[in-house]
Amino acid sequence: MKLSIGLISLVGILISSVMGQQRPGSADFIVSSCKRSLLQLDLPAVYLVNKNVTFAAIDQYGSAYEIGDQLAVQCGYRTSSDFWGNVTFRASLMSCYTQILDDQSTITIRINIFPTWDKSASVSYLKQVTCPYTWDAREILCEMNYMEVSVRRKIPMIAESALQDEPEDWVSAFPEAVAGLVSIWQVVFHLPSTRKAMLVRDAQKIGYGINTTESRMLLRSPYKTAETQLLNIGGVNFSSVRSTILYKQRWMILMVDTAVACPVDDVKYTKQMITWSVPKVLLPLLIGASRLKNSRIAFGVDLLTLTSTEIANRKYGLMDNYLDTTVNVPVGAQGGYFKSHVSNGQYGITYSINVFLEHEWDDSMWGVTKHTIIKEITTPFDAQLTPIINETISTTKTFNVTIGPFLPDVQLVNITVGLETLTIPELMAKNYNLTTITYPNGSVAFRLTVPFTDQNVKIEYNGETTRVYILVVTFGFKIIPTNETFTCTTTIVTLVRDAVLPQPSGYCDMNTLNVIVKRGNVDINWIPYVNNIPLTPETAQSNGAVFMANSTHYTITVNRYSDNVMYEEINNAGMTVTLPLTLVDNTNGNPMSTFSVSCSYPTAKLIDCFPNGTIAVTVLKLSTVPDMELSQLVLRDKSCRPVIYTDTSAKFVFPVNTCLTTRKFTQTMMIYENDVYYYRPGLTDAAYKLHVACNYTTNQTLILQYGYEVPPSPSAQTAFGTLALVLRLSKDSRYSTFYGDAEYPVVKYLMDALYFEVELLYSVDPQLELFLDNCWATASPDKTSFPKWDVVVNSCEFVETYQTIFHPVAADSRVVYPSHLKRFEVKMFTFMNADRAYLGEIYFHCSVIICDAVQLYTDPLCTKSCIPARQRTGRSAKLDTDRHQYVSSGALLLKSNVLSSLSPY
Ligand SMILES: *[C@@H]1O[C@H](CO)[C@@H](O)[C@H](O)[C@H]1NC(C)=O
Ligand SMILES: *[C@@H]1O[C@H](CO)[C@@H](O)[C@H](O)[C@H]1NC(C)=O
Ligand SMILES: *[C@@H]1O[C@H](CO)[C@@H](O)[C@H](O)[C@H]1NC(C)=O
Ligand SMILES: *[C@@H]1O[C@H](CO)[C@@H](O)[C@H](O)[C@H]1NC(C)=O
Ligand SMILES: *[C@@H]1O[C@H](CO)[C@@H](O)[C@H](O)[C@H]1NC(C)=O
Ligand SMILES: *[C@@H]1O[C@H](CO)[C@@H](O)[C@H](O)[C@H]1NC(C)=O
Ligand SMILES: *[C@@H]1O[C@H](CO)[C@@H](O)[C@H](O)[C@H]1NC(C)=O
Ligand SMILES: *[C@@H]1O[C@H](CO)[C@@H](O)[C@H](O)[C@H]1NC(C)=O
Repeated sequence: MKLSIGLISLVGILISSVMGQQRPGSADFIVSSCKRSLLQLDLPAVYLVNKNVTFAAIDQYGSAYEIGDQLAVQCGYRTSSDFWGNVTFRASLMSCYTQILDDQSTITIRINIFPTWDKSASVSYLKQVTCPYTWDAREILCEMNYMEVSVRRKIPMIAESALQDEPEDWVSAFPEAVAGLVSIWQVVFHLPSTRKAMLVRDAQKIGYGINTTESRMLLRSPYKTAETQLLNIGGVNFSSVRSTILYKQRWMILMVDTAVACPVDDVKYTKQMITWSVPKVLLPLLIGASRLKNSRIAFGVDLLTLTSTEIANRKYGLMDNYLDTTVNVPVGAQGGYFKSHVSNGQYGITYSINVFLEHEWDDSMWGVTKHTIIKEITTPFDAQLTPIINETISTTKTFNVTIGPFLPDVQLVNITVGLETLTIPELMAKNYNLTTITYPNGSVAFRLTVPFTDQNVKIEYNGETTRVYILVVTFGFKIIPTNETFTCTTTIVTLVRDAVLPQPSGYCDMNTLNVIVKRGNVDINWIPYVNNIPLTPETAQSNGAVFMANSTHYTITVNRYSDNVMYEEINNAGMTVTLPLTLVDNTNGNPMSTFSVSCSYPTAKLIDCFPNGTIAVTVLKLSTVPDMELSQLVLRDKSCRPVIYTDTSAKFVFPVNTCLTTRKFTQTMMIYENDVYYYRPGLTDAAYKLHVACNYTTNQTLILQYGYEVPPSPSAQTAFGTLALVLRLSKDSRYSTFYGDAEYPVVKYLMDALYFEVELLYSVDPQLELFLDNCWATASPDKTSFPKWDVVVNSCEFVETYQTIFHPVAADSRVVYPSHLKRFEVKMFTFMNADRAYLGEIYFHCSVIICDAVQLYTDPLCTKSCIPARQRTGRSAKLDTDRHQYVSSGALLLKSNVLSSLSPY
C-alpha cells in the first residue's frame, strides 16, 4: 500500500514535468482498454494523418524508455497499425516498468505524435492505466513479437542486499551453473542434448526478459534465439524455450521451470477460408505433469471472447477436441476487414483479422495454466480480376461502361479516354458522365458514359452499312492511404448500322473525265487512289488532276490524255477511256471501294473487215506502254509487220488466211482473230498485246458494250464485216453461163429445169465451206411471204412433188474454192396454188451456213446429213439466233408452156 501511494505522487510529478516541457493536448482520443493480460491503446488514423507516433514506457521513477523493436520484444510491448493507419499499442501486464501488485498492474505510457518530417515538433500525451487481473498459476502469452511465461512462486522475493555470493552452492546444485562468478541468479536453457546456463543479466543482454515480481517469476523470449527450438507438435511448428530459472534464497537454491511454447505456422489459407489449428497437448509445457483436466477454450476477435452464439452468427467455426482446437474464419467474415493492394501492377485484396485462442487447463504439476495465442492474420495477396461491365446500348448512342466493384479504399484518380487523360474534375466538365455506385457493403463501382459523337471515340468503317465505334478507356486508380496505383484498360467495340458510304458518280466532257464523290460519313479515312497514287488536294496537281472539295462532296478531274486514265477498249465505235478510282482506308491500306468512270471518244475507223476476209488494223500508241516502237509491232506471225506507221499509229493489212489468223464460229457469227504484239528488243515476252477480231454477220449493225469496271489489259479490238452471198440461175446444166442482172425477170416455163448455184463471194479462205440449209420459192421478193414452196428442207432435197437434185462442184477456171459453192437443180416445176399450177413471178431463197470444212463435226450447226459428202448430217438448230444467212434470186416469170405451145407463134 505504502508503495502505491508513493507511486501516485511520483506520477503526479512526472505529468507536470512533461507538461512543463511541451503542451500535450487531451489524450482522450487515445482509447485505452484492459483486455485479458494486456493493456491496449488505440489511436485512430484520423489523428495521425501525415504523422508518426512513438511510444515510451515510464517507470516508477519517471524515467522514460523509448520503445523500439528490441525493447518491445524484451519488455512485452507490441505496436501495430492497420492499413488505414489506425495504430494499436499493446503492453503485457507483466511488461517492464509496470507497477505490478498481486492483482493489478499500472502501466504508464507516453505517446509522442509528430509530423513525419519533423520529430522535434513532437506532441506528447501521457496515458496511465491500471488494469486489474487475476493471474493463473502459470500464464503463457504468445504475442505476435514475443513469447511470455509467468509462473507463480510461493516463496517471497528476497531483497537483493541479502544475497550472498556463494558460488559453490550453485555448482553443487547445477553443474552447468556458472561457477566462480558473483551471481545472484541464473537461467539454465535446456537444449536437445545439452544445457546452457547463463547469468540473468547476460540473458537480458541477448534479448531475454527475465524478472520477478512479488509473487511471480517471468521469462520473455523472442521467437528466434540461439536457445529456442522448433518443435513439431501435432503437425504444427512451435517455437519453444525450455528454461529453468534458479535463484538463491538464504541457504536454499530455488528453481522455477519457465517453459514456453508458441505456434509459428499454424494458420492455413485458401481463397475462401482461414484455418487456424492449434494442438492442445503441448508436451514441453507438461513435463512432469499428469493428464490435463478441466480444459477450457476461449476464442475471440480483438482480444474479446466470443460466445458460441456469436461465433455461429459470424459464420466462424470452432472445433475443439482432446487433441487440438481448430478455428475457421471465412475470408470476409465480420470482425476482419478487406484491404486493396497492388502487386506488380495488378489489383488484389487481402483480408485481415486479429484473433486469439485461449486454452486453460489444470494439471498436477502446475495447477492452472492459461495459454493465450494472439494472431494478427492477413491472408496472402489475392489478385482480383477487375470486372468491367459493358452496358452500352447502341440505340442510346452512348458508351456505358461500369468498372468495379472495388473496396472503398480504391479511389478513381483519372480516366484516359482515347488519348486524353483527365482528372475527375476535368472529366465532369466534359461531355462525360461519371457516376459512383456505392453498394450496401460499402464497395464502390464507377460508371462512365461517353457519347458516340465524342472526339475521343474512334469510328471505323466495317463494311456494308456498318460503322464500328471504338472506345478505349483506361481508369487510373489509387489505393488509400498507401497511394499504390493501378490502371484498368478496356476497349469497347460497338457496331452500328449507320454508315453512309461515299457515293461516286462521274461524267465526261470533251476533254476531261470527272469523278464526283458524295462524302457520306465514312470517307474521313478514305483516300482516293488512281493507279496506286493517292489523289489528295496536296498531291492532285502533281498528278495531273484537279481536286476540289467542299463539306459534302469532292471532285477529281483529269484530262483524257493524262497518265491517270487507261484505254480500256478501242474499236470502231471509238475509244473507251477509263479513270479507275480506288478508295483506300488510310489506317490500314485496304482498298474499300473500287469504281471507274469510262468515257467513249469517237476515233477514226481503226479496223476494217472486208468481205473478202482482208483485215485492216490501225494501232494507236497507248500511254500505258510509252516505250512502244510502232514500227516493231508484229502479228501472230512475226513476219507480218505494219504496212505503214507513224509516231502515233501503225497500220496492218492482211488476208485472213495469212499471218496465223484463226477463225471461230459462234452461234451467231463467224470470227477471224489475230493479235498485235510488241516485243521489247531481245525479249520473248510481249510487252503489249492487242487482240484483233473481225466478226462477220450478214448485215446487221451491232452495238458494242463496255462496262464500268477496271479495264483488263491488254485491250481488244473487234470489228464487224459482212459476208457476200449470191444465188445465181445458170443458163445451162453445166453451170457455164448465168443470167446477168439485166436479164431479170427471167421467163421460164412449167416443165423447165432450173439450175441454181449459191456462192460465198470474195472469200479467199479455202477452209470455209458453204452449206444450204433450206431453199424455197415465194411469189414475192419477201422471203417470208406466202404462198411458199419448199425446195431444200433441212439440207435435204425436197422430193414430195417436185424433185430437187444436188450437183457436185468442181474447181475450174471460174471456181477457185469449190467448197464456197453449192448447186442444185429444181426439175419438176409444178408449184401448186389452190389446186392449180401457179403461174407468174417467182423468187427463190436459200438459208446458208458457213462452216469450217476441216472441223465440221465439232460444230453442231454443221453436222447434218442427206447426201454424204455433199450436204451435212443431222438436224438444223434454231434459226432465229444462229449464224444462218440468206440469199435470194432475182425474179423469174413462170409461164405455161401449154399455153405457149398453143400460141400462134
Ligand atoms: C480505422 O480508421 C478508419 C479510418 O480512419 C476508421 O473508419 C475505422 O473505424 C478505424 N478502425 C478501427 C478499428 O479503429
Ligand atoms: C524487473 O522488475 C522490476 C520491478 O517491476 C523493475 O523495476 C525492473 O525494471 C525490471 N527489470 C527488467 C530488466 O525488466
Ligand atoms: C516517420 O515514419 C516514416 C516511416 O516509418 C519514416 O520514414 C520517417 O523517417 C519518420 N519520420 C521521422 C521524423 O522520424
Ligand atoms: C447505363 O447503363 C445502366 C445500366 O443498364 C443504366 O441504368 C443507365 O441509365 C445507363 N446510362 C446511360 C447514360 O445510358
Ligand atoms: C449525366 O447524367 C445525368 C443523369 O443521368 C443526366 O441528367 C445528364 O444529362 C448527363 N450529362 C451528360 C453530359 O450526359
Ligand atoms: C492516372 O492515374 C494513374 C493511376 O493512379 C497514374 O499512374 C497515372 O500517372 C495518371 N496519369 C496522369 C496523366 O495523371
Ligand atoms: C498519399 O498521397 C497524399 C496526397 O498526395 C499524401 O498526402 C500522402 O502522404 C501520401 N501517402 C503516402 C503513404 O505516401
Ligand atoms: C458492348 O455492348 C454493346 C451493346 O450491347 C455491344 O454491341 C458490344 O459488342 C459490346 N462490346 C463488348 C466489348 O462487349
